[in-house]
Amino acid sequence: MKILVINGPNLNMLGIREPAIYGSQNFAALERFIRESANAIGVDVSLFQSNHEGEIVDVIQSAYGVFDGIVINPAAYTHTSVAILDALKAVSIPTVEVHISDINSRDEFRRFSFVSLYAEKVYAGYGFDGYKMALEYLTGK
Ligand code: DQA
Repeated sequence: MKILVINGPNLNMLGIREPAIYGSQNFAALERFIRESANAIGVDVSLFQSNHEGEIVDVIQSAYGVFDGIVINPAAYTHTSVAILDALKAVSIPTVEVHISDINSRDEFRRFSFVSLYAEKVYAGYGFDGYKMALEYLTGK
């Protein structure tokens, strides 16, 4: 089983950006955590991060026929991107949405997620652990 993990804009700034909300660990630590979780579960992961909506659409399209699952933290595009929602629908790959923070207990505008209209499951507010929970969900472990 092969899973593509996608992180959206500004997640590369983890550790620097709003540590009271996103914690003090940096993006390299998140990538390490995801790889270690995948190893423990016994699943292949590919990691992708971009600050650009079109690049995220491109990587979702190129996942067709290659990956069995997608874990995505679309970051700010969660709340704005019909294009990412449509790309996920187009490839029809089982998808889990992850947010480090609890998007339901923050600003009103963060409560709506376009990606949730497609994602099978959402883990929000579990910090890095949400990514592991998503891998476990997709692998049935
Ligand atoms: C986020 C929540 C989003 O609202 C925000 O725009 C992000 C990160 C999270 O992981 O908590 O950039 O997706």
